[in-house]
Amino acid sequence: MVSSFLEHDPHARAGKGTPSARGREGIRFPRLTLSRAGFPCKPPCLCFGRVEVLILGCGHLGARVARALRARGVHVRASVRSEAHALRLRALGVEAAAEADPVRLPRAWLRTTTHLLDLIPPRGTRDAAVWADALVALCPRLRWVGVVSTTGVYGDHGGARVNETTQPRPSHPRALARLAAERRWRWAYPAVEVFRLAGLYDEERNLLPRLARGDYEVPRFVPPNPSHRVHTHDAVRALLVAMEKPQPGRVLNLADDDSTPHERYARALAQAAGLPAPRVILAHEAARKWPARRWWFFQDRKRVDNRALKALVGGLVYPSFRAALPELVARFRGR
Ligand SMILES: NC(=O)c1ccc[n+]([C@@H]2O[C@H](COP(=O)([O-])OP(=O)(O)OC[C@H]3O[C@@H](n4cnc5c(N)ncnc54)[C@H](OP(=O)(O)O)[C@@H]3O)[C@@H](O)[C@H]2O)c1
Repeated sequence: MVSSFLEHDPHARAGKGTPSARGREGIRFPRLTLSRAGFPCKPPCLCFGRVEVLILGCGHLGARVARALRARGVHVRASVRSEAHALRLRALGVEAAAEADPVRLPRAWLRTTTHLLDLIPPRGTRDAAVWADALVALCPRLRWVGVVSTTGVYGDHGGARVNETTQPRPSHPRALARLAAERRWRWAYPAVEVFRLAGLYDEERNLLPRLARGDYEVPRFVPPNPSHRVHTHDAVRALLVAMEKPQPGRVLNLADDDSTPHERYARALAQAAGLPAPRVILAHEAARKWPARRWWFFQDRKRVDNRALKALVGGLVYPSFRAALPELVARFRGR
């Protein structure tokens, strides 16, 4: 019997998939309401045929996606650059290769890949996903391609709201490289789905260790500059549901409801964990003093619309970092 891969969530099957239930990996799974009868299955839904997922650039987010897919019985392969990282992925039951050129991954992998998720950070506009066309040619069974990009591609909008239809106007080379990678993929595989990610955080990866060092600097903008984040758990849910309910050509912002400026965010984290407050540096000083790559991360003024994300996943488990604070602090204290 074939069934939706969301139904392979052991917690959902056990009837424990409420927002407050905890998975074995410490991840909270949302209630899964999709029943086989009620699910609008049609090819290329994951219900049909064998699913072989390949995750390129399988770092922090990729490993979380891989773990969630493995928990649902899906076969996952992944690429990273370092052998040490590949070893860690193998321990999760993922077939992993340390190979920086996706085209040189084992042909047998590429021949059978049905779902491909590209998380490789592009190094520049020139080399952004240059391999995308060759890769598509080597993967004859592809049914879904997703590429993770960044909300940075929108550029500066003077604090106005941006949604998925807003024309991107990147304001720095890193965002330009992202947009080039999105376009390269669209050229190679027109149905590609693009996920524009805000700042990722979770109990494993957040500012607390840096705040604990006592020298973390935050830029102060006047007026305050909105800043966006998304909990890794909600980002993973979105990627899985998108694979499950493909929509060719979709663009989706992965950001939560909270646009608290970075300065206040860092201060709230420090306060919750009893750590020293971050050092405030005026924005124009940060622009002068900081390495360009760090400054770029903060410079654009925009609010990110996430209504499409919420419609897709049926609401966020972590609409704001405040909902995650107790978990972040508990993990930090227990480390
Ligand atoms: N984290 C955020 O806040 C954020 C926000 C917006 C967008 N993004 C983007 O979202 C994606 C996922 O983020 P993340 O936080 O999971 O990133 P991450 O932890 O830094 O992981 C990136 C992974 O990509 C691998 N990699 C780099 N170049 C590669 C190549 N040519 N071939 C194969 N693997 C390669 C690295 O392998 P090694 O570990 O072996 O070096 C690393 O494991 C990235 O593209 C990131 O830039 C992240």
